[in-house]
Amino acid sequence: MQRDFPLFQSHLDLAHAYWKQILQPGDWAIDATCGNGNDTLKLVEILGSALGGVIGIDLQQEAIEKTHELLSSKLSKESLGKVHLFTQSHASFPDIALKAPVRLIVYNLGYLPRGDKNLTTLTQTTLESVTRSLERIVPGGAISITCYPGHEEGAKEEIALLKMISSLSSDTWIACHHRFINREKAPSLLLIQKNR
Ligand SMILES: C[S@@+](CC[C@H](N)C(=O)[O-])C[C@H]1O[C@@H](n2cnc3c(N)ncnc32)[C@H](O)[C@@H]1O
Repeated sequence: MQRDFPLFQSHLDLAHAYWKQILQPGDWAIDATCGNGNDTLKLVEILGSALGGVIGIDLQQEAIEKTHELLSSKLSKESLGKVHLFTQSHASFPDIALKAPVRLIVYNLGYLPRGDKNLTTLTQTTLESVTRSLERIVPGGAISITCYPGHEEGAKEEIALLKMISSLSSDTWIACHHRFINREKAPSLLLIQKNR
């Protein structure tokens, strides 16, 4: 059988392949940086009617509106009813996220494509949020973080995250970092899975 080539062209292809492996029927997921809603949509599509729920968070009202617009144009009423969107910082999670069995939390760091570059994710807040995520995730679940070291704050963020994640106990966490080594300043993918 002829397979697609290349298998992954970007960090997103890689991330989506992992998400498909991790999510199981009935699961909940969090998109901690909704942006234009592409990742939120992907999370809903992976489980389809078997989805428990998706919680989408973004600091910017504009991003939440764009996400809602995209989801409304692509999803059935039933699927749309399983998505809960919040305009707030991911430094803390909304109450619904504290009650749901969350198996996957995704971050696509940086700024809204074609938006205000000053409204980017910040190292300190990202570290706080990832700490919350590590506390929230169910055994077997994972945190997926796309880093953008091509801009100044993104480079700081990636270094700080790598420092924090590499100090996690290997008894509880499986942590890896994917980087395209022949592309300059390419985004990278951090994947952290909790042992069962
Ligand atoms: C690269 S974009 C996300 C792209 C998005 N996942 C998609 O599929 O289109 C990063 C987003 O993070 C958001 N953001 C920045 N700081 C944040 C924070 N503290 N809490 C939540 N969202 C934040 C920005 O507003 C921006 O929309």
